[in-house]
Amino acid sequence: MPKRAQIELQRPAAESLYATELKKLVELDKDAPRPGGWKLTPQSVLKFILGDRALGITQKFVGSRAQLERCIVALATNRGLMLIGEPGTAKSYLSELLAAGISGDSTLTIQGSAGTTEDNIKYSWNYALLLAEGPSSRSLVSAPLHRGMSEGKIVRFEEITRCPLEIQDTLLSVLSDRMMSIPELPDSNRSLYAKVGFNVIATANTRDRGVNEMSAALKRRFNFETLQPISDLQQEIELVQRETNRMLEQASIPASLNEDLTEVLVTTFRELRTGQTEDGRTFEPLTTVMSTAEAVSVGYASVIHAYYYGDRAPTPENLLHSLVGSALKDATDDLKKLRHYFNHVVKNRQDQLWQDYYTAHHQVL
Ligand SMILES: Nc1ncnc2c1ncn2[C@@H]1O[C@H](COP(=O)(O)OP(=O)(O)OP(=O)(O)O)[C@@H](O)[C@H]1O
Ligand SMILES: [Mg+2]
Repeated sequence: MPKRAQIELQRPAAESLYATELKKLVELDKDAPRPGGWKLTPQSVLKFILGDRALGITQKFVGSRAQLERCIVALATNRGLMLIGEPGTAKSYLSELLAAGISGDSTLTIQGSAGTTEDNIKYSWNYALLLAEGPSSRSLVSAPLHRGMSEGKIVRFEEITRCPLEIQDTLLSVLSDRMMSIPELPDSNRSLYAKVGFNVIATANTRDRGVNEMSAALKRRFNFETLQPISDLQQEIELVQRETNRMLEQASIPASLNEDLTEVLVTTFRELRTGQTEDGRTFEPLTTVMSTAEAVSVGYASVIHAYYYGDRAPTPENLLHSLVGSALKDATDDLKKLRHYFNHVVKNRQDQLWQDYYTAHHQVL
C-alpha cells in the first residue's frame, strides 16, 4: 500500500512505490551471493517482478519467466540489455522494475529523442563554477550515464533509436571498455571507470524508427529481447482490471472496473489488434496498435467518465467513448474497420453487455 506522501504524486518511482517489498527481499537476501553491486540476488529480482504470494510480493509484469531470467542474466554480464517490441508492451515498465530491483534506483534515465545530446547522456558543466574554478569534479554536472558508472547502477536509455546514430554510438566505448574519458579534467580524473553494478538497459519501439538503423557495432554490445503482447486472455483481463483499479485507488476515486466490463474491453482490444475473434473468425485489424497499456488507460478513463458524468458505475457506452480516442488516431480507414467490427462481430454476441455495447456504437461511431 503506498504511503500518504506518495499518493499525492501522480506516479512514484517503482523503488518508492514498492519500498516495503524491496526491503523485505533485501533482508531475505542478506548473505546470499549476487553479482557485484546488486542490491538483490537474481532470484529475488525475479520474485520482485513476477511476484511471490508466500512472501507477499505482488506480480507486476506478465510475461515468460524464461525470458525474464535471460534479461536478468544479461544485466549481470558485460553486455547491455535491449528491450524491443510494439508500443505498449511494457518495455519501459520492465526496465524500470529491473533497475529498481537491481540497483534500488530506476531514475537514472536518458530519454532518447531527435534532440538528445551527449551532454544529456554523459555530463555537462555548472558554468558559474567552471568560470570561477575551471573544470573540476565540483563544476562537472553528472548526467545519467556518468552517475550510473560512478555509483555502480543500472542506467536506462529510453527509445534509443530515436536518437541520431552518432549519439547512440556514445555508448560504444562505455559498453566495451567500461570507461568514460573526460578530457577536460586534470589527468588523475580524466578517465571514469565504471563501478561494479553498472549496466545499461535500452528500449526501442519497433513501430518508430527501427533498430535496423542502429550501428552493427552497438547492436553487438547488447542482448536483444523482444517483448510480445500478453498472449493469454485471462491474464490480460486480470492485469487490466488490477492496474485500472490500482490507478483509481491511487487517485482516491471510490469506483472500480468490474470483471465483465474488463472482459469486453480486453476482448475488443485483442480482436482489433489481431484481426481475429476469440472464436476464430478473421477481419481486418486496425492500423493503430491496440496495446495493453492503452487498454488500461481506456479502462481508467471510462470509470472516471462514469464517476463524474454518469451513474457512477461505468457502462459499455462509457467504455466506447474512451475507446474511440485510442482506436482512431491517424489512419482514416480505421473508423470503417471499427464500424465493421461492431456490425459483424459485436452484433452477433448474445450477452446483454455486448448487446448494450452494440447499441451504444450507433451514438458514438
Ligand atoms: N506484460 C505486461 N505486464 C505488465 N504490464 C503490462 C504488460 N503489457 C502492458 N502492460 C501495461 O502497460 C504499461 C506499460 O507500458 P510501457 O509504457 O512500459 O510500454 P512501452 O512498451 O514502453 O511502450 P512505448 O513503446 O509506447 O514506450 C504498464 O504500466 C501496464 O499497465
Ligand atoms: Mg516506453
